Amino acid sequence: MWSFLLFLPALLSKVAGAPQAPQWSFNLKNTTSGVIALEAIVVSPTLVVFLDRIGDDPLQVNNHSAWGALWDLETSTVRPLDVLTDSFCASGALLSNGSMVSIGGDPSLFPGNPAGLPTGNNAIRIFEPCASPSGDGCTLFEDPENLHLLENRWYPSSIRIFDGSLLIVGGTHVPTFFYNDDPANSFEFFPPKESTPRPSEFLKRSLPANLFPRIFALPDGGVFMVANNQSIIYDIEKNTETILPDIPNNVRVTNPIDGSAILLPLSPPNYVPEVLVCGGTATDTIDPSLLSSQTPATSQCSRIQLTEAGIKKGWEIEHMLEGRTMPELVHLPNGQVLITNGAGSGFAAIHSIADPVGDSNADHPVLTPSLYTPTLPRGKRISNKGMPTTNIARVYHSSVNLTPQGNFLIAGSNPNFNSTPTSGFPREFRVQTLDPPFMSMERPRILSMPKKLKFGSRVTVPISMPRSLKGSDIKVSLMDLGFSSHAFHSSARLVFMDATISRSRNTLTFTTPPSGRVYPPGPATIFLTVDDVSSEGAWVMMGSGAPPPVLE
Ligand SMILES: *[C@@H]1O[C@H](CO)[C@@H](O)[C@H](O)[C@H]1NC(C)=O
Ligand SMILES: *[C@@H]1O[C@H](CO)[C@@H](O)[C@H](O)[C@H]1NC(C)=O
Ligand SMILES: *[C@@H]1O[C@H](CO)[C@@H](O)[C@H](O)[C@H]1NC(C)=O
Ligand SMILES: *[C@@H]1O[C@H](CO)[C@@H](O)[C@H](O)[C@H]1NC(C)=O
Repeated sequence: MWSFLLFLPALLSKVAGAPQAPQWSFNLKNTTSGVIALEAIVVSPTLVVFLDRIGDDPLQVNNHSAWGALWDLETSTVRPLDVLTDSFCASGALLSNGSMVSIGGDPSLFPGNPAGLPTGNNAIRIFEPCASPSGDGCTLFEDPENLHLLENRWYPSSIRIFDGSLLIVGGTHVPTFFYNDDPANSFEFFPPKESTPRPSEFLKRSLPANLFPRIFALPDGGVFMVANNQSIIYDIEKNTETILPDIPNNVRVTNPIDGSAILLPLSPPNYVPEVLVCGGTATDTIDPSLLSSQTPATSQCSRIQLTEAGIKKGWEIEHMLEGRTMPELVHLPNGQVLITNGAGSGFAAIHSIADPVGDSNADHPVLTPSLYTPTLPRGKRISNKGMPTTNIARVYHSSVNLTPQGNFLIAGSNPNFNSTPTSGFPREFRVQTLDPPFMSMERPRILSMPKKLKFGSRVTVPISMPRSLKGSDIKVSLMDLGFSSHAFHSSARLVFMDATISRSRNTLTFTTPPSGRVYPPGPATIFLTVDDVSSEGAWVMMGSGAPPPVLE
């Protein structure tokens, strides 16, 4: 009798199919991206900008194929953006006043493209803050004659820095066959801080596999950079470069040998910065005729703490569950890092190595994401337990973004020239979300939030919390959702804020970071995570919302 009762719950759940604990899942949208989402950035609580190259994407605008689009997160529908210049392989970020700036791109006009378009490699494209949830009336602004970069850049990186402007780093002047052989070895700013770019020894030294440098704004205002297998801290105010240790074991991590990198969550009171670099390939040669689509990618992750002691210690090594080239690392609101996309072998770029698969330089797509838990001991941080497997390859030219809703939007992939391939990997227009378990649970809610928040201020907001949550672990994160391009999420940032919940569990009080060095002033999304269940994000303006300084 007793034993029967003891087993009854287990029996019932089997027989009656009682609800299972929610799981991670991939969910395919019944609509497509219209353009290849090779660059993607969340620009409002409901909108994502996708950018592609000039080509023959199915989405039409003004009687031609579009290469820009606005994805509506609420309806999963897409509307075209009429882009003037070729945004192929560009970068971008949000400024302190909320405008999104896309910079650089491709200078050449591909066969069959509308003739006479201005080149994209010195382009500055501005998407002003869009108040319409569906993007009505919101467009990209371009004025190529009067508004352009100081130096031509294809494959540059850009991040928002402490004064709310963009630091723009590296790239190549013209399209390259495989690696950087016409480099823009310089830094510049938008809005500009001077009339000529700043030369960089680091960019020279890290040639030729140094496209899309992985760069991070540090909480003291410095900028950490990784390119090829080298790293530095750049002091913007003094214009000096300090050399840091190489990535160990000959592993290279920037295009065309793409690993990814992320600034781990920053926590009060000291906001000690740590950077994690994962994937890429260990290789001595970059001669494409000697490289194969079957060359295994590395499973190596390297982590460094950017303090005096940490730098002395150097990079610490750990390993992903598989090798990955072109993975992407993306923050979760709870401080974990999603490792997704990419391939188990080969390289970035298109049809340039000895034995491409179709036109793809990479093969063996990795279809199961992993999670990285920064706070666990080394060797225990990476797991794919409970993670789902997709059947959609996301290799070169794919993107992933944390959305303000709290799940991941995954799109793009196109390791091909401007045509539909007969073999290899398709031009991918399918869009998926990767949904954490909390997407199908009762979640805490932030009921209202001021539109603007001052640095170093205490803020109390109303919340609701499901009874099912004990409330023993409270995390409040201030996040920049980043700009996804070429296996790197530039400007992505998570700053934890000291927070408490009232005894009645209906208000949350948190303290914003002390300055724009810890969180560069500009748009942010605030998530409340209770016992690992995250709320939807609240979209705020961190700082005054004023435009960044302009050159007098
Ligand atoms: C796609 O799915 C949504 C619900 O997510 C539904 O409202 C819509 O009608 C579907 N559209 C098509 C074309 O099936
Ligand atoms: C688009 O093409 C149609 C048919 O060729 C033409 O009538 C129309 O004027 C064109 N519209 C624009 C904006 O060029
Ligand atoms: C970094 O690359 C350079 C040459 O490309 C090589 O000489 C050096 O040994 C590498 N560093 C490490 C730590 O592997
Ligand atoms: C934000 O600043 C940029 C750079 O100065 C400017 O181009 C843009 O128009 C500004 N946007 C708003 C909404 O003020």
